[in-house]
Amino acid sequence: MFKMMGSAISRWTMPHFAAAIVFFIAAQIAMIAGISYPSAPLAAPMTLAAVHLLTIGWLTILMLGALHQFVPVITAQPNAAGRSALVSLVAILVGLGAMETGFVALEGRLAHAAVLALPAGGLLVLAGAIAACASLGRTLWRARPLPFAARFVAIGLVFLFATIVLGILMSLVLSRPDLMPWPRVISHGLQLHLMAGLIGWFTLTAIGVSYRLLTMFTLAPEERGPLGTAVLLLCAGGRAATWLSSVADAAGAALPAAVIAAAAAVTGLGLALYLIDMVRLYRGRRRHKLELNTGMALPALIAFALCIPLAIRIAVLGRAGTLGGPLAYLLLFGGLSGLGLSQLYKIVPFLTWLERYGRVLGKQPVPRVQDLVDERRDRPWFVLYFAAVALGTVFGLLGRPLLWRAAILAHLIASLMIFRALWLVRRRAPLIVHPPAFAAPSLQRSNSA
Ligand code: HEM
Repeated sequence: MFKMMGSAISRWTMPHFAAAIVFFIAAQIAMIAGISYPSAPLAAPMTLAAVHLLTIGWLTILMLGALHQFVPVITAQPNAAGRSALVSLVAILVGLGAMETGFVALEGRLAHAAVLALPAGGLLVLAGAIAACASLGRTLWRARPLPFAARFVAIGLVFLFATIVLGILMSLVLSRPDLMPWPRVISHGLQLHLMAGLIGWFTLTAIGVSYRLLTMFTLAPEERGPLGTAVLLLCAGGRAATWLSSVADAAGAALPAAVIAAAAAVTGLGLALYLIDMVRLYRGRRRHKLELNTGMALPALIAFALCIPLAIRIAVLGRAGTLGGPLAYLLLFGGLSGLGLSQLYKIVPFLTWLERYGRVLGKQPVPRVQDLVDERRDRPWFVLYFAAVALGTVFGLLGRPLLWRAAILAHLIASLMIFRALWLVRRRAPLIVHPPAFAAPSLQRSNSA
């Protein structure tokens, strides 16, 4: 069996990535076409449909696919996800399809009875998350005490469940208000759902995975010392405290606003320390020439950094109506998707290289991982992607939806070109034939990543 630093290759990771890419493209097309935000209001059902293409279809499937591969690596466990990863993917795909039907029905474009597809789809997504977490959780459990990066992942997975369960509750209230006349679930639940999903699940997991990948690919020290511990404690503790105090508030405990604000500030401090630690990580790296994936993680980290003053502005001035959309856009497209795209640019060639050449390493010449990509050709697309997201955020802040859509079109084109580069890696990586049948000049005996 192929091994990746002692762990098997997860055969369902690539299908996760392929599905995620399709949803990322679909979400951007919905935004450009003007059927969802920024042309429609944030709370419009078609916006919710596009948001979930992005949050479940793209980011959640991408992250679960990556975790199926990296949790065994992070925890130095030999087993990769088996069939449960496929079951999870299928359940999430069918569930998301049903949720999308439900959102379209909420908009009034389908028979009203179809609204029930929304909670039904949510339950299937929950089943998919349980299947994924059963296998990931088993691996994490065996690796106790958990390594540093895995702790973020374990906490992120708890928030994934909180997000989905709240989503299902809200969808039940929306689809059967006659049976569940609980408007408080929507008014308080949405904020809890957003916090659990965007910060608890996405951001904490991205922090954990980025610590592992960026130290691995830049050859920086993995041990993050007291600063790393502070990031973990403040981010996780602050998130849990914000979430629990908001739950108590929603349940009528009437907590002083200062308690919730203080808990949110602790998370903000943790995120700021994470960004400082990333600067330290890049400065302490042993691989001096940055490859495209590690170079392009930098604008994504800058996007995360810019989210902090925007979030503070919203908290202080209470202008969630005008700033909330651009903030969510910057976080989802600049920070999370930017990090996802840049790391895919390394993970896909790396896994392809291991699949094709792992068996013959050391026995015959093989290409280097970097020979599978053409950084010169692909760099301008990454630059266009991040420049377009930056412009989109500015147009969003200025309240110019048409220009914002033009910026989204630009990053759709850039992401399509990046996906084309990944497709070429899968298609063109030369297959090893026994005995060695090729000896192109660029091929050399190497096991370097
Ligand atoms: C990883 C999982 C998820 C994430 C990150 C996520 C994220 C979000 C976000 C960002 C919004 C706000 C959209 C806006 O205001 O335009 C939202 C709203 C919503 N989500 Fe989710 N979501 C997830 C899963 C689910 C699931 C499984 C369901 C269940 C059907 C669900 C149901 C809803 C509903 C009903 C709303 C709208 C509530 C309202 O304003 O009336 N979500 N979600």
